[in-house]
Amino acid sequence: MAYSSTRDWITALDRAGELTRIREPVATELELAELADREMKSPDGGKALLIEKPTVNGRVSPFPVAINTFGSWKRMAMSLGAASLEEAAASLGALVKAKPPQSFREACRLLGAAFELRHAKPARVKTGPCKEVVRRFDPPPSRTEAWPPAPDWRSAASLDSCPPTLLDLPILRCWPLDGGRFLTLPCVVTQDPDTGARNVGMYRMQVYDERTTGMHWQLQKVGARHGRRYYETGTRMPVAVFLGGDPALAFSATAPLPDGLDEFLLAGWLRKKSVDLVKCETNDLEVPADADFVIEGYVDSKEPLREEGPFGDHTGYYALPEPYPVFHLTAITHRRDAVYPATIVGRPPMEDFYMGAASVKLFLPVLKMNFPEIVDLALPAEGVFHNLVFVSIKKTYPMQAFKVMHGLWGMGQMMFTKYMVVVDEDVNVHDTSEVLFRLCANTDPQRDGILTKGPADVLDHATSEVAVGGKLGLDATRKLPGEGHRRPWPPIIRMEEAVRRKVAERFGSRS
Ligand SMILES: Cc1cc2nc3c(=O)[nH]c(=O)nc-3n(C[C@H](O)[C@H](O)[C@H](O)COP(=O)(O)O)c2cc1C
Repeated sequence: MAYSSTRDWITALDRAGELTRIREPVATELELAELADREMKSPDGGKALLIEKPTVNGRVSPFPVAINTFGSWKRMAMSLGAASLEEAAASLGALVKAKPPQSFREACRLLGAAFELRHAKPARVKTGPCKEVVRRFDPPPSRTEAWPPAPDWRSAASLDSCPPTLLDLPILRCWPLDGGRFLTLPCVVTQDPDTGARNVGMYRMQVYDERTTGMHWQLQKVGARHGRRYYETGTRMPVAVFLGGDPALAFSATAPLPDGLDEFLLAGWLRKKSVDLVKCETNDLEVPADADFVIEGYVDSKEPLREEGPFGDHTGYYALPEPYPVFHLTAITHRRDAVYPATIVGRPPMEDFYMGAASVKLFLPVLKMNFPEIVDLALPAEGVFHNLVFVSIKKTYPMQAFKVMHGLWGMGQMMFTKYMVVVDEDVNVHDTSEVLFRLCANTDPQRDGILTKGPADVLDHATSEVAVGGKLGLDATRKLPGEGHRRPWPPIIRMEEAVRRKVAERFGSRS
């Protein structure tokens, strides 16, 4: 199922009883975040919210804000046009099953080829709804001269005669110590200058003024790798950012696809309809024709980096200021009826937990091709994505848990995993209490732990250096001969099934 715009997506959520409309004005400075946080932390992720009258500096914006639209299992599956995430994962697994690949890289190449065959290849179109209103920003006359002030569109008769600048969009300031307003669901399009390969990544953008923002692509992300090539050659880097359109687009921008695999292919395959792309007004990059907003610009590789942050982050703490590239705006184009999509991150559980978990579920079949012993894998909300990974395996030989740990630490963004706990196949990794029970019962820390080091998430404030850190793996599986446990392994306590059934029949089921 493909959605043609954020409005279309909101209508589907409304029909499914998954939307709450907020009709009173809500300030985009902190108030909206507090409202969203309460919703995200309510049972099963609460509802998606449509704030119909968000206010910017006390004035009502013409663009409503949609938030928490991915924030439950049901909405996450709906956003991908699937009845359930398991269904989407099974059909992704089936794509590579026909010819099992020998490596993860090969699996991804195969996936790319399979996506193309399934009509997921993006199509080029001349124009689209994202160009209904176009505002180009003339470059400043010289580097030192200030930009001319933008006209006040609020006093203008229509958006067409005076479309908005960045300062007019209902962009949130999420937490009290945030360094400013941040675009929190931007899909950032860049191109590898050597190969021409496109990347779409979700990297937050801090609004510095009406024509510049920060560009928070972290060290190990593909946008940053593209950026480094422009810095090496001293050339200006075109960048296009889009918001909204089909929600499968935003999800694909967050998915940990390998460098070189086009996120628009994944989005096209998920929505079962290829993504129509239009060329930008002020550079040659392409963006989805159905997007709600497109923000075009560039990064000047000769310009010094600028401090970005603080920002209340996924970790539940503020990410402190760090130097990042500056994005310069050259145009904003948008739908006339655009809805501004946003999220907030912070102390878990938050909306992004479902986005991360959906990636894990979706790509698990591909991961299993490389590690056939893996039964299931979970990133519990408390671990904020990669801090904590639980993995269950069907163990058949000694030290297999360690083989899996080393393998996973070497796979794409799994490199950020700080604590990894491996359990036996009968353990439900989505039940944190059960995993902790097995961890405590089945490990001798000295024998079953491994301390190692590697690249770390740049957001991890606990590491001594940015992006470099330690890792702890714990083997909580039943020990086999050869693993240093020289005593009999006791059976786990379980009641006989027949007795359980009989007691349940007589006294009712309590579990
Ligand atoms: C809501 C949200 C915000 C994110 N913000 C950032 C960010 O500011 N910087 C970043 O490097 N990654 C951020 N991520 C994670 C990336 O989107 C994710 O790692 C993605 O796979 C990166 O794509 P890439 O591998 O093409 O670079 C965010 C993810 C979500 C769900």
